[in-house]
Amino acid sequence: MTQTTFGSGLHLPRYLREDDAVRTPVGFEDYRSTGLRAPLHAPVDLPHRLTEVTGPLLGEGRVTAADSDLTRQHTGEPQGQRIVVHGRVLDTGGRPVPHTLVEVWQANAGGRYRHVIDNWPSPVDPNFTGLGRTLTDDQGRYEFTTIKPGAYPWGNHHNAWRPAHIHFSLFGQAFPQRLVTQMYFPDDPLFGQDPIFNAIPEAARPLAVSRFDLERTVPSWALAFEWDIVLRGTDQTPFETEDDGDIA
Ligand SMILES: [Fe+2]
Repeated sequence: MTQTTFGSGLHLPRYLREDDAVRTPVGFEDYRSTGLRAPLHAPVDLPHRLTEVTGPLLGEGRVTAADSDLTRQHTGEPQGQRIVVHGRVLDTGGRPVPHTLVEVWQANAGGRYRHVIDNWPSPVDPNFTGLGRTLTDDQGRYEFTTIKPGAYPWGNHHNAWRPAHIHFSLFGQAFPQRLVTQMYFPDDPLFGQDPIFNAIPEAARPLAVSRFDLERTVPSWALAFEWDIVLRGTDQTPFETEDDGDIA
């Protein structure tokens, strides 16, 4: 067992600050509900001390292989187009983020969430909950099997429809890497009228759109989409000096 003493010999990593040019604003006029939700003051950058550069540990055995297949959580199979969604979790330096939790939630093939406040007239699928989770492997890779979600209407403006999307939550390896975002599908005709998608600075929008991946389709079974997720990276790798008091 190795014990590390956090003395002057241990250099903590510092995580890169967000680039304003590609930062999605927390308030966006066309996305009406942000008028009530967005902070009125500019965010304050916290220093990156030990609390900030570490993160939650899940322990062993909490996430199982079955958690990543959203088509096998009930007695029957859900309706809709079966898809594989896969990719890598990377940091801004292009380094893989291994063994990190990736959680997803989504509407069913008809665009309906299994949630008490979603009651628009599209049917709930009794064989689809729409929740999944997995851990990235040694190379930062993740994979889900699911159903392609449908578009759904919402009350932002007259005849507003959300493009098909899957919600993602990532904890990364430390709190500065926390990311909650949405994955979209290529060439969606609803992009142009969606203020949530268009709140993303134009240069960053392609980062939110998955790629149809013919090579990862499964013959007579499933289509496939690839989406890499980039978390905030570090600009300093932690290292220990010879006299840092590390006890083997
Ligand atoms: Fe959604």
